[in-house]
Amino acid sequence: MIIEWNDQLAIDNSIIDEDHKFLIAKITGLLDSIHRGDEKDAILRQLHVIKLFSEEHFKREEELQKAARFPDAERHKAIHVNLLDVLIFNIKRMMVDYSVNDGGESVARRLQAIEKFLYKWLINHIQVEDAKMKPFVAEMRERAAKMSPLRGFIHKLVG
Ligand SMILES: [Fe+2]
Repeated sequence: MIIEWNDQLAIDNSIIDEDHKFLIAKITGLLDSIHRGDEKDAILRQLHVIKLFSEEHFKREEELQKAARFPDAERHKAIHVNLLDVLIFNIKRMMVDYSVNDGGESVARRLQAIEKFLYKWLINHIQVEDAKMKPFVAEMRERAAKMSPLRGFIHKLVG
């Protein structure tokens, strides 16, 4: 189970894919950080950024769906709300786990658990739910052209 971008995850060859690539890169960075044994604060900060980016990304997807009159928009929005709830719940749980220092082996186990969760959390959502947007990407183009990539959102977080 590797969390990385591949062409099978492509939805629109545009803004949605750019956002997904960016989120995947952030998640990969977090997993590296855990692997290095970084401080809890650094991990927490990255999880917080992933949460903020996800919120912003979900909003954008919902906007694009509205523009394209995507028929499954209401259900998709409800799924996003649930994904954020699950993410917040897991962040809290991860931070408790991260505080427990029971020797070197725990890092590998912790990493595996977080990786498994984030894989399911993001990759499955892209492959199963976001994939349903594919027939609507032509209608999304005009609205998508007005959006800047998610990485541009970072200034809002720091400034
Ligand atoms: Fe989505």
